[in-house]
Amino acid sequence: MLEVDGLAKRYGEVLALRDLSVRVDEGECLVLLGRNGAGKTTALRCMAGVLLPSAGNVKVDGIDAADDPAAVRALVGLMPEVPGLYERMSARSYLDHFGAIYDLEPSLRTRRIGELLELFELADAGDRWLGTYSKGMRQKVALIRATLHRPRLVLADEPTSALDPDSARRAWNYLKDLQKDGCALVICTHSMEEAENLAGDIGIMSAGRALAVGSIVELRRRSGLKTHQEVRELPSLQDIYLAIVGNGAAEHELAETRSA
Ligand SMILES: Nc1ncnc2c1ncn2[C@@H]1O[C@H](COP(=O)(O)OP(=O)(O)O)[C@@H](O)[C@H]1O
Ligand SMILES: [Mg+2]
Repeated sequence: MLEVDGLAKRYGEVLALRDLSVRVDEGECLVLLGRNGAGKTTALRCMAGVLLPSAGNVKVDGIDAADDPAAVRALVGLMPEVPGLYERMSARSYLDHFGAIYDLEPSLRTRRIGELLELFELADAGDRWLGTYSKGMRQKVALIRATLHRPRLVLADEPTSALDPDSARRAWNYLKDLQKDGCALVICTHSMEEAENLAGDIGIMSAGRALAVGSIVELRRRSGLKTHQEVRELPSLQDIYLAIVGNGAAEHELAETRSA
């Protein structure tokens, strides 16, 4: 569903993303982890066709985003890190507005919006202005908006960073249901619990590069961490992540020293 090849993005002096190649098939999930500034948001925006890469290409369902950005955008639902919502609109009319842009038939969008507001416990607040919403409520609206048209590929940037544990679990279950229906997912997060819950491949990014991409088992092997013999416990995803990012930073510094 998503094929990314040699993707790079430069903002002036800053090389935010370098040579990223990943693939996410139908019904699969890729979770991107990495420090602030690692290039996760940039990668997601390039995948969504809203940001033009400096090099490389993105194909969604075989369509190159550079050739037909509009076709790619129709297949994709992007949930941005900071949702820009219309403050003086109710959640219900805001979502209805986007449902119309996505060409959903009025009765279908009313039903779907009603169900999703109910699922995310926003049914009672649905007619209030978005300007009165808490951060978590706004994030729920952004998730509903990104998935309302049942896109084939959902790209979500820290989708549960403002959600309470109960709502976060609902959001994961909702994303997993979409996945079961064949939707491909790419999620950026800082939550190890989220990465484990979504149970997809994990990409660990640092300074614009993917240091490692694979299943948790593959990353555990890659990290070189051993099972804790005394307690027979496997290293946690956080241990693995810290080991790989730590090694990556060390390699990076070495490369910088060599090139200096
Ligand atoms: N519009 C922009 N102009 C200039 N630099 C940017 C812009 N957006 C992001 N960057 C830089 O690109 C790098 C990657 O940022 P980002 O993709 O937001 O990382 P992440 O989402 O992993 O925190 C950072 O160094 C950031 O400062
Ligand atoms: Mg980001």
